[in-house]
Amino acid sequence: MTTAPSFPAARAAGCPFDPPPAIRSLQEETPLARVRLWDDSTPWLVTRYADQRKLLSDPRVSADITRPGYPSPTPLRGGAISFILMDDPEHARLRRMVTAPFTIKRVEAMRPGVQEIVDDLIDEMLAGPNPADLVTAFALPVPSLVICQLLGVPYADHDFFQDKSNVLINRETGPEAKAAAGAALSEYLDELIGEKLEKPGEDLLSGLTERIRTGELTRQEAAQMGVLMLIAGHETTANMITLGTLALLEHSDQLALLRETDDPKLVASAVEELLRYLHITHNGRRRVAVEDIEIAGQVIRAGEGIILANDIGNRDPDVFPDPDRLDLRRDSRRHVAFGFGVHQCLGQPLARMELQVVYSTLYRRVPTLRLATELSEIKFKHDGSVYGVYELPVTW
Ligand code: HEM
Repeated sequence: MTTAPSFPAARAAGCPFDPPPAIRSLQEETPLARVRLWDDSTPWLVTRYADQRKLLSDPRVSADITRPGYPSPTPLRGGAISFILMDDPEHARLRRMVTAPFTIKRVEAMRPGVQEIVDDLIDEMLAGPNPADLVTAFALPVPSLVICQLLGVPYADHDFFQDKSNVLINRETGPEAKAAAGAALSEYLDELIGEKLEKPGEDLLSGLTERIRTGELTRQEAAQMGVLMLIAGHETTANMITLGTLALLEHSDQLALLRETDDPKLVASAVEELLRYLHITHNGRRRVAVEDIEIAGQVIRAGEGIILANDIGNRDPDVFPDPDRLDLRRDSRRHVAFGFGVHQCLGQPLARMELQVVYSTLYRRVPTLRLATELSEIKFKHDGSVYGVYELPVTW
């Protein structure tokens, strides 16, 4: 057991888009292997796509962070961040209350507004200093503005909530700092909900206050759901915008495809392929077995932790031939970048639409967009639960 390799593992120098080589070897040789975490616990790491999907849809597998054996990515365990870390029926009860705004129909109705946000931000970037940091000038504001509008959170507070969510999703920050950031965000959402209880608007949080009034939901549950959606709604998409842009700048033939097309099907396929190829939620889905489970010739015992490494799952050659090649024309719709099973990403229609608008607009409107530094100078978020870059200096 002491020989279990450390997880998360390091990526290879010079290969910022590829999963760590140690994890790839496990996929080839030991698809169900013990790995060692920060607390010396040794959960199972599942590296093959088919096993991952089986386990993620198995009711004997729990997402409840409070269960003994749960493979926590950091020392902070308490204070479940809403339904993402709960099991059914509680998970389903809460998730059901917020599914309506994320249906494809409702999300499509938001597309013209998102296009306007994207166009305005590009106008501002082009009128501002050159070079610019694509993260602050464009990639963070797009999803932050969108999720703020949808939830009914004032965008003017973005420095506050972006700062707190950065602390929460960074693996290296200590438990005290994390607890303080979580408490500050919960308090902030609780105050907002208080205001909306008095004066409801048309937004998602106001919709939740109606359920507080009818007794279906507590104010604390509503605040926790708000925190979850605020963080999930901007961090992930922002990193997909910057890392996606960087990957395209490094694959100029693929960038040219996007720059020259006005075919929405190709744009949609490019979004799926970039989601597959980059897989930004790179620390794996965390679960714990509640019963013994036989899989891949092994038995996972009740109470043992399980990590589904979906990043390498998206590079499984049994499902995606030549998996390390970025190929915007391939059909990658079966990827697991949004997870799988009951916890599959609630915001995926929104994320897809935002990325389609961004990828179909940015490179066409700024055809000379290029890096203003060397790839080797770029600082990657190896320490975060969401992968990406801290800054992306670009010029045009
Ligand atoms: C490219 C962008 C995004 C990526 C890659 C992504 C990825 C994921 C993944 C992998 C999960 C599954 C977690 C698990 O099984 O443990 C998830 C869940 C979730 N995501 Fe996203 N996400 C993105 C955007 C969004 C957006 C825009 C929202 C909007 C609010 C959102 C809200 C959520 C929520 C609420 C859950 C929990 C679902 C549940 O537990 O039932 N995500 N996301």
